[in-house]
Amino acid sequence: GVAAIGGVALTAQAESTKGGPTESNALVFDQEAFTTLTTTVADAAGDEHEVTYRFYRAITYVTKPVDEKYQSLNISVPVKIDGKSVDASGAPILFANSVGGYMPSSVAEATGVGGGMGGGPAPDDAPSASAAPSTSSGSGTESGSSAQLAGGKMVNLPQLGLVAGYVVVEPGARGRTLKNSAGEYYGTAPAAIVDLKAAVRYLRANKGRVPGNVERIFSTGTSAGGALSALLGASGDSPLYEKYLEDIGAADASDAIFATGAWCPITDLEHADGAYEWNWGTNRLSTGEQVDQTVSKGLKSQFVEYQAALKLRGLGGFGPLTARNYDDYLLRTYLQPSATTYLSGLSETERTTYLAKNTFITWNGKNAAFTWERFLTHVGARKKDAPAFDLFTFPTDSSDAMSGDINNEFGEGTEQYRHFTLYSLRKDKGATARLAGDIPEKLRLMNPMFHLVDKPNPGRSRHWWIRLGSSDSDTSLTVSANLAAAAGQLGDDVSHLYYWDAGHGANEDAGDFIDWIAETAG
Ligand code: DHB
Repeated sequence: GVAAIGGVALTAQAESTKGGPTESNALVFDQEAFTTLTTTVADAAGDEHEVTYRFYRAITYVTKPVDEKYQSLNISVPVKIDGKSVDASGAPILFANSVGGYMPSSVAEATGVGGGMGGGPAPDDAPSASAAPSTSSGSGTESGSSAQLAGGKMVNLPQLGLVAGYVVVEPGARGRTLKNSAGEYYGTAPAAIVDLKAAVRYLRANKGRVPGNVERIFSTGTSAGGALSALLGASGDSPLYEKYLEDIGAADASDAIFATGAWCPITDLEHADGAYEWNWGTNRLSTGEQVDQTVSKGLKSQFVEYQAALKLRGLGGFGPLTARNYDDYLLRTYLQPSATTYLSGLSETERTTYLAKNTFITWNGKNAAFTWERFLTHVGARKKDAPAFDLFTFPTDSSDAMSGDINNEFGEGTEQYRHFTLYSLRKDKGATARLAGDIPEKLRLMNPMFHLVDKPNPGRSRHWWIRLGSSDSDTSLTVSANLAAAAGQLGDDVSHLYYWDAGHGANEDAGDFIDWIAETAG
């Protein structure tokens, strides 16, 4: 490595081994290292197109990888669509992560666009990934990026991006379950965000070499991947990550992105237990059981304080957002408009049938109206027990990889699970217990709200596309609304809406998103 040699040797080596494998040029994008693939891909409207593209596979994006299987990315560049040549050299870049469940995600073995192996849970709103329409020869694998449903169709954003003429970058990233031979977890927080940043830096360091416009990177992700996408957007060029990026040999370049797409982001984790009880506290579990109402109310009171401390104003001139008016805010800004859009799109007969089944909705011929209480009843079973995220006691068997997921995300060294809230820690370990010393920093590193509210980050993305299903009880409906309000309060361009009656992982307007990329990129 050049860095160890020192300045003088560096100069000599740079002159004598131009183009050779030195540490400083190990991150140079090799424009010739592609295979050409031709595949049939459906666009957002479901129409099929023949796409010929250059596929660059498994490019390690750091010089000191901990695990190359995850710290590598794929690039797909369209060259011909339906027989017509396309020039994507200046096209927007769709930067699509396939993280699910904060698990490791690798694209290293994908054989085509949109075929990354996301590690996460199957979304509620999708059939098994094997039900995906067969597209490129390489896809049809379990893919975090394709496991979404829109009006009965599978959505594979990378493929939609490619057929729209964009450059598609699919980064892998370490995740919480990775453990080395010494029993140490090496993919827990903040590994995944550090890796995604390193991948962005790789692209930006290769400006002019890498296809596409590195000043127009549009990040996407769903659930944990949506959280990481939002965090990537919020934390652009933040110095907080510098030492982690140096450790893995990330390129010395900007990690700022232009725009952020986030579907059902599972984020603001240290406040999510309180928010969850504020939202779903009285909803029963699928077993019919009520969660412990003392615990629920204790957590809910934390949300009251938190929401007040955020000092956010609602979008659309709503005024100060508090726990007291948040139900009204969600109804007015998101839920009633969402139901209205849904009902307006139905035929007269379908609408009549739906309204007959859902008498909680008042339909005046133009707009849907209902109360918060009736809406909660309509959604039905809450997905998670209380607390939803920081469990009082950690799982002892690992048969359910999602149990204690966020405790695992904040694991460290040989500790698989750690507490990240004082409330759950003290329930577990007693009233004087203290959070591990590194937890506050890890929380800042993982929370987009820190970069939008606590310390508004000038390097953040200025364009936000945020989506959530109205029946998604994987987290509180306030989480994405707060994210949108925080970005909006800073003056950023925010598009946020809820898909009516949709569950976790839904993506029902992918075509609009693809169009939004072109409009926003300018
Ligand atoms: C995901 C879902 C969850 O409920 C959660 O707690 C974390 C991640 C996901 O689907 O990625």
